[in-house]
Amino acid sequence: MNSYKRLLLANKAWVQEKVNLAPGFFSDLAKEQKPEFLWIGCSDSRVPAEEVTGTQPGEVFAHRNIANLVNHTDINLHSVLEYAIEYLKVKHVIVCGHYGCGGVRAALTRHRYGIIDEWIRQIKDTFYAHQEEVLAVGDFDKQADKLVELNIHEQLRNLMKTKVIQKAWIQEQRPTLHGWVYDVKDGFLKSLYKVEPGSPLHEIYQFEF
Ligand code: CO
Repeated sequence: MNSYKRLLLANKAWVQEKVNLAPGFFSDLAKEQKPEFLWIGCSDSRVPAEEVTGTQPGEVFAHRNIANLVNHTDINLHSVLEYAIEYLKVKHVIVCGHYGCGGVRAALTRHRYGIIDEWIRQIKDTFYAHQEEVLAVGDFDKQADKLVELNIHEQLRNLMKTKVIQKAWIQEQRPTLHGWVYDVKDGFLKSLYKVEPGSPLHEIYQFEF
């Protein structure tokens, strides 16, 4: 059997399982979505948001890209963010990185991989800003994992710099921003950073409302 056919077969079994447990599962979901969480994660196949968090369809609005970046020129990310905050009214935004991230590891080398080099350039900037801290932790693997953590923190800062987050913080005291890291070696998620609405940000980044 072609490998992709397994996926279509598995889907049929999954639908059956859901309907057996709750006959109205799909008809209820078809009416609307009310997710409480926006997930910004890495595209890595080893970190599926719903699977690792035990969440069901309808619970997590998601955006994934290489190395879970909040890039200020990414219209895809910013469309997802605005829709999640202003229309879906999510309460929590989770930036989830992962140890062993290929994008972060690539940024820590001088190799040329292709267009991804431009995409991950900002991770080199994060390294540059925290060089001593990164270099002090040990070998390449440890350095890369330290940079994974710093990169997650940087993306929370990038979220704070957006008008969408600033407006929601002022007007509705939400969402809380979370920086989580997933360990592909043991499957555990760890909360590294939590940023409450109204947390301080240099005034040059603060818009007037
Ligand atoms: Co990754």
